[in-house]
Amino acid sequence: MARIRHISGKKRAKERAAVVLAAGLGTRMKSSLPKVLHTINGKPLVRYVVEAVSAVSPQRIVVVVSPATNDGIRKALAGLPVLFSLQKEPKGTGDALKTAARKLRDFDGTVVVVSGDTPLVTGETLETLLALHAKNREQLSMISFVAGGPHSYGRIVRAGSRVAAIVEDKDADAEQKKIDEVNSGIYAIASSLLPLLKEIRRNPVKGEYYLTDLAGIAVKKGYTVGAHSLGNERELTGINTPEELYRAGHYLRERVLSQLLEQGVSFVDRASVYIHPSVTVGPGTLIYPNVHLEGATSVGSGCIICPNTRIVDSTIGNAVTVKDSTVIESSVVHDSAAVGPFAHLRPGSVIGASAKIGNFVEVKKSVIGEGTKASHLSYLGDAEIGKDVNIGAGAITCNYDGTRKHKTTIEDGVFIGSDTQLVAPVTVGKGAYVGAGSTITKDVPPLALALSRAPQKQLENWALRKQQDRKRATARKPMKKGG
Ligand code: UD1
Ligand code: CA
Repeated sequence: MARIRHISGKKRAKERAAVVLAAGLGTRMKSSLPKVLHTINGKPLVRYVVEAVSAVSPQRIVVVVSPATNDGIRKALAGLPVLFSLQKEPKGTGDALKTAARKLRDFDGTVVVVSGDTPLVTGETLETLLALHAKNREQLSMISFVAGGPHSYGRIVRAGSRVAAIVEDKDADAEQKKIDEVNSGIYAIASSLLPLLKEIRRNPVKGEYYLTDLAGIAVKKGYTVGAHSLGNERELTGINTPEELYRAGHYLRERVLSQLLEQGVSFVDRASVYIHPSVTVGPGTLIYPNVHLEGATSVGSGCIICPNTRIVDSTIGNAVTVKDSTVIESSVVHDSAAVGPFAHLRPGSVIGASAKIGNFVEVKKSVIGEGTKASHLSYLGDAEIGKDVNIGAGAITCNYDGTRKHKTTIEDGVFIGSDTQLVAPVTVGKGAYVGAGSTITKDVPPLALALSRAPQKQLENWALRKQQDRKRATARKPMKKGG
């Protein structure tokens, strides 16, 4: 099972596996939703952790779930190559790792263990832990940090400079409580140490098997145990309460914005901008207040993203202007195009280079060619529109017949007059014109003019005659009695 991975042609010094502990219920969240399924930026905590451990390229990742968290976690991790290990009862972190170890019996190497509630840890920090673990020839290494303020983390108890044990908050005496170096719950463990998990005894206070007891057990048996102060408290924070979840979300947001600033992105007011960590933005792009960039979105260089705009799972090219109050979902906007204000690109839309999608225009699952303009008040659905087309104000595709959707094709250089309805399926050929106010139900040949409105009638003096009729009628009416 253990595949051998090669790094630049050489076998890596040690094989790697990862375990994510995610079977706890997290009662401190005061929510029926299991803790690790709570989200930051719409992504479950456990998924952040699995992505972080994936960054150190383990040969396998084992996620410990409970009967209560099993379904939700499988859904949350859909598409990621992980193995699941079922911990039947939440008997503590030591028991959780013992459960995972059953999936690692044939594994020889280093096991990275991370709690499912530590979503902000980075692959870099894990890589540093692994490097120290190897360099110091430790069998058990953990990441520690200095906790400020009141907390309930396990304390790192040292004898001189060496780690002697980890003591949980509930078990710590007054002296131990003063120790500010604490356990992050992130470990690198030699697989040869895993059999020692059997020696962990049930904690008398909480009735659980504490993984943290492994440190003391290993030290007593003469193994080398190290605690390394890496990263910072905000990165290593374990989320146990709604307040901690909120603060972690805030910190992640700050981290993303700082990175973008470093990369040359400008903000008018970064405090009002929400950008998911998965989003990329090119240098020289200016982002106005109240902009939300979410999911698998990339924005190119030199763009202007105006206020109150939301872009989700979309690719925006270079030098694109997205004007105020625009929503773009699962779409592509090519270089130098302009979208908005008040435009809505629904999933599957592709806006060509230098095209213009203006005020109150909705585009759905349509391709808009290079240089094409739909400047005002249109609905373009299931359409394929060529280059340099002009879509007049209020023109719409009638793509739905009540049962099925149909396609509209508008070829290059077409002029669609204002207030036109294009009843799909229909094609307007290259270079053709459609007169304003037309209802187009038949294909228009290239270079033709199509007009479908009724010819205008002129009734001379019609209003004058109406006025005169009204006057005469009033004159004939008898006066009311008694006034
Ligand atoms: C744990 C550590 C503590 C450390 C802190 C860092 C122990 C005993 N204590 O405390 O030293 O400072 O993390 O954040 O390990 N889990 C299971 N099965 C269980 C119990 C827990 O899978 O039976 C999982 C949880 O889902 C969670 C993780 O293990 O993701 C940690 O459990 P949690 O209860 O949050 O431990 P802490 O009390 O925070
Ligand atoms: Ca925790």
